[in-house]
Amino acid sequence: MIKKQGLAIICGIAALLFGASFDASAQGNPESGQQLSTKGDGSGAPCMACHGPNGEGNAAGAFPYIAGMNEQYLYRQLRAYQTGDRKNAVMSMNIDNFDDQQLQDIAAYYASLDKPASTASNANAELLEQGESLVNIGNWDEYIPPCSSCHGPNNQGVDENFPGIAGQHASYIKQQINGWKNGDRKTDKVQLMEAVAKRLNDEQIEAVSAYLASIPAAE
Ligand code: HEC
Ligand code: HEC
Repeated sequence: MIKKQGLAIICGIAALLFGASFDASAQGNPESGQQLSTKGDGSGAPCMACHGPNGEGNAAGAFPYIAGMNEQYLYRQLRAYQTGDRKNAVMSMNIDNFDDQQLQDIAAYYASLDKPASTASNANAELLEQGESLVNIGNWDEYIPPCSSCHGPNNQGVDENFPGIAGQHASYIKQQINGWKNGDRKTDKVQLMEAVAKRLNDEQIEAVSAYLASIPAAE
């Protein structure tokens, strides 16, 4: 119980820190963002080629769903591919020619879409059960807090700092956790997520990814 309270306090402090440093709210134009999403940045492919016509992503390619995510969160992630805080050869080349306003417009467009309906999961029951327990209860002996303590009720996200991870493709979730472990992703300035990622072993990563992919992205 004490550990849980401690974590809640840490999350609260983090939210304050984030709130202070990301105060400037983006002014994106979703109509212009929609047009950009169909054209791409001139050197890359149109967003929908990988993220789908409705921003639903694609499990086989580890292309995340981006529809209905928080606008500020999306904008920050797009910027991170440009600054190198996020490294991914497949994604970065698709947005490197956009200016800041264009990134804000694209973020506004995808944020305005509905989150995708969940897809059926074919993961085995034992793995899903292990995942469910880690995601919702955590493993306090291994200092792994429940994912839901930060990612919100049903892991559907809280404000611009804690993204929804429910219903996300398992392949992509796994890729992100490994990205924090190996340094490809440094977007998390107070290292809340990095700290959790580094405590998860391969089997636990499989389990949480499979379980999260099996639950609805939105109510
Ligand atoms: C060739 C395939 C491809 C194209 C085209 C593409 N992406 Fe991506 N996108 C990816 C992959 C793969 C990832 C995950 C990369 C990683 O692990 O960081 C990604 C990640 C993202 C993320 C991070 C999502 C999150 O939850 O953090 C955003 C936002 C995004 N893409 C937006 C776009 C936009 C906007 C466009 C068009 C301008 C675009 N992508 C074009 C493949 C693509
Ligand atoms: C202490 C708070 C905290 C806990 C606990 C936590 N996360 Fe996170 N997580 C974050 C933050 C903050 C981010 C956003 C980092 C950023 O800004 O890029 C994040 C981002 C993510 C992302 C990237 C989502 C995307 O679309 O870009 C995934 C996947 C993720 N977390 C999975 C998990 C899983 C699985 C667990 C449980 C095992 C977990 N998280 C527990 C704080 C947390």
